[in-house]
Amino acid sequence: METRKVFLVGAGPGDPELLTLKAARVLRSADVVLHDDLVSAEVLALIPPQAQVINVGKRCGMKSTPQEEINKLLVQYGLMGLQVVRLKGGDPFIFGRGGEELETLQQAGIEVEIIPGITAALGVAAGTQIPLTHRELSSTLILVTGNSRNAEHIANWPDALPSNATIVVYMPGHQLFPLQQRLLSSGVAPETPCAIISGATSETEQVHLTVVANLLAAPQLSAPRLLVVGEVVRFAESRQLRKQFNDFSVGTQYSEVSPNTGENPA
Ligand SMILES: C[S@@+](CC[C@H](N)C(=O)[O-])C[C@H]1O[C@@H](n2cnc3c(N)ncnc32)[C@H](O)[C@@H]1O
Repeated sequence: METRKVFLVGAGPGDPELLTLKAARVLRSADVVLHDDLVSAEVLALIPPQAQVINVGKRCGMKSTPQEEINKLLVQYGLMGLQVVRLKGGDPFIFGRGGEELETLQQAGIEVEIIPGITAALGVAAGTQIPLTHRELSSTLILVTGNSRNAEHIANWPDALPSNATIVVYMPGHQLFPLQQRLLSSGVAPETPCAIISGATSETEQVHLTVVANLLAAPQLSAPRLLVVGEVVRFAESRQLRKQFNDFSVGTQYSEVSPNTGENPA
């Protein structure tokens, strides 16, 4: 029998098959599951029917459960000796407030186990075939949050970003002007390729390729979305061209911005 404890579990970026075996096992024997909105229905379907399932996610400006309330619930259920799973999109320790929840549970004397998940940046990389590091193009990987509601996130970026870095911006928001300015003022060249990816690894995945100079003209892809900036984004071009060819051959209209020029390809 499992020792009763609270599991902080990563559900991965979207594709239910990217859930770890360990996460699936723990979910199947959960008594209580507190989950985020980004967790797919297929992953939630693994939860036994008798378990209590609480959606504590926030989405599209709708009312959400405050973090303090989530912490309180975790402690409350943890102290009841139930098998509690806190299920989060991606990985619990990447922009997921997993650290705060761990701290709260530890302070309450509750045993915690972390089960990592595939974070969105890695899901995006796989889905778009962008290698985040590359011996010739990128030897630094920077994960940042753009969270436009909190300007200091951007203000705290390093003043000079390494020239061969790949930058992945979680929660870039729709107002890309501050982000674009921050990238330029940190030394990123205007012609640097970038990609906005929405719903990576899910059936609704969308990719928009452009360059930093043209970011403001990017379409407003639906959430969740991520911005990847760096020379390695060029790898997504050939994949996108293949997709364009396939879509064209089945009669789909296609319009994409070329990362090289920022112009629509002829
Ligand atoms: C609160 S953060 C949580 C990140 C999560 N803990 C992780 O490791 O991926 C939510 C943000 O992650 C990004 N994200 C999560 N899943 C995504 C996906 N499938 N495609 C694109 N971006 C995603 C988006 O930027 C979204 O706003």
